[in-house]
Amino acid sequence: MTIKTDDTNYYREKILREAPETEPERQLYFCERVREIVKERYGGEATFHIETYGCQMNAKDSEKLAGLLLQAGFREAETENADFVLYNTCTVRENANQKVYGHLGYVHSLKNKRPSMLVGICGCMMQEAEEVEKIKKSYRFVDIIFGTHNIFKLAELLFDRLTTGHMEVDVWEGTTEVVEDLPAERKYPFKSGVNIMFGCNNFCSYCIVPYVRGRERSREPEDIVAEIRKLAADGVVEVMLLGQNVNSYGKTLDSPISFAELLRRVEKIDGIERIRFMTSHPKDLSDELIQVMKESKKICRHLHLPVQSGSTEILKKMNRRYTKEQYLDLVDRIRAAMPDISLTTDIIVGFPGETEEDFEDTLDVVRKVRYDSAFTFIYSKRSGTPAAAMENQVPEAAVKERFDRLLKEVQQISSEVCCRDLHTVQPVLVEEKNSHMDGYVTGRMGNNTLVHFPGDESLIGAIVDVYLEESKGFYYMGRQEV
Ligand code: SAH
Ligand code: SF4
Ligand code: F3S
Repeated sequence: MTIKTDDTNYYREKILREAPETEPERQLYFCERVREIVKERYGGEATFHIETYGCQMNAKDSEKLAGLLLQAGFREAETENADFVLYNTCTVRENANQKVYGHLGYVHSLKNKRPSMLVGICGCMMQEAEEVEKIKKSYRFVDIIFGTHNIFKLAELLFDRLTTGHMEVDVWEGTTEVVEDLPAERKYPFKSGVNIMFGCNNFCSYCIVPYVRGRERSREPEDIVAEIRKLAADGVVEVMLLGQNVNSYGKTLDSPISFAELLRRVEKIDGIERIRFMTSHPKDLSDELIQVMKESKKICRHLHLPVQSGSTEILKKMNRRYTKEQYLDLVDRIRAAMPDISLTTDIIVGFPGETEEDFEDTLDVVRKVRYDSAFTFIYSKRSGTPAAAMENQVPEAAVKERFDRLLKEVQQISSEVCCRDLHTVQPVLVEEKNSHMDGYVTGRMGNNTLVHFPGDESLIGAIVDVYLEESKGFYYMGRQEV
């Protein structure tokens, strides 16, 4: 069949009339239609490139987007010099947005040389009306704009763009829909992220995520377990369960279930050797979860437990719903159950109203908990969040000075803590060939620490015992025990 896509009206209407109404069938149908159009317009295979910003949720979404594009007849390209370039954006801090605009300038110059090129933007930034307006007005060369709730519709949006010739803008306010069973392209053959829930209901006062990712929705445990079984059959040994606050998983399901119970079910899946999860909100971390972790052979001894601030006063203004003492008490209970656990955190410096005394409380928590590592952020004002309207925004110079002090403290402690397993044998999941040293491979311990040791590619994806010979601060050099 030759497709007269120029004769768009007739063709478009016929295709739309025949499209299935249920998902995922509808999207698979549009993948095939796009494949036909791409074949005709691009003389065979076209290429795509996705630039991903932000957190693990976005990384996972990009794997789904890539899966759809492969199904629609595109092939992946390493760089933005491709037929379709898609930016999956983050807006959690101002500098995340700025990076995207930098890239848009560059891709515009590429598109000037390659007029058939398509450019798309999706993700969290597109859930903000003012950003969409800015692109519609000043970045007219962009072809497709969509948000976080309808990534599953990529093929249909591409079809619309290719058959109408207009900029295609489709951003949803929210959704209750979770579309299962669409193709996804995994970045690693041996490990995979698995969404267990979407959105967030916590409304920490500084954070834009609840506005751009919508209300919290949990997937059915049966769907999660089925997906992980399939991954295991496909060679995956490590899963990372993903949610903005995994500890509140399952509470709103018709048959409610706890996160700890979900972990028990995932533990039983043959072939899965390691289970990780992100992120735990301290206010919802239950004793049941601590117990399940303690008894588990598969759940990694690592908890990312964002503290954000050590000051009870600031935590209250942040709407975190725990105090400094409650947080420290939680850490004590976790360590009592699992003395070898590695703890990591996120910290914000310069939240409105933060005094030197508040900041000292943050340093105090850092010194008491002794994190393996900490992500430190300078507070960024996000429009529409309650904190943006708060008075007493901290002067930039004070924030910078505190940030530097915090970073120094965090790095010092981290270099002391990270070498605690020196001269022991630890299981390491081999992830890749070492890019700096020939004849070496790189892998991760259960607590996420990197280990480099002599070995070849045949080890990739295997969990092997490695003797940790030398600590380099944030990673080890080792040798395989045979
Ligand atoms: N749901 C996760 C975090 C998602 S955002 C949680 O609650 O832990 C990742 C991190 O970005 C947050 O933990 C916080 O430290 C940081 N962050 C979020 N909003 C921010 C803002 N407005 N300014 C600076 N850092 C911010
Ligand atoms: Fe943002 Fe708080 Fe939700 Fe995390 S828990 S995503 S910091 S609102
Ligand atoms: Fe960024 Fe969205 Fe994640 S704002 S941090 S990509 S949920």
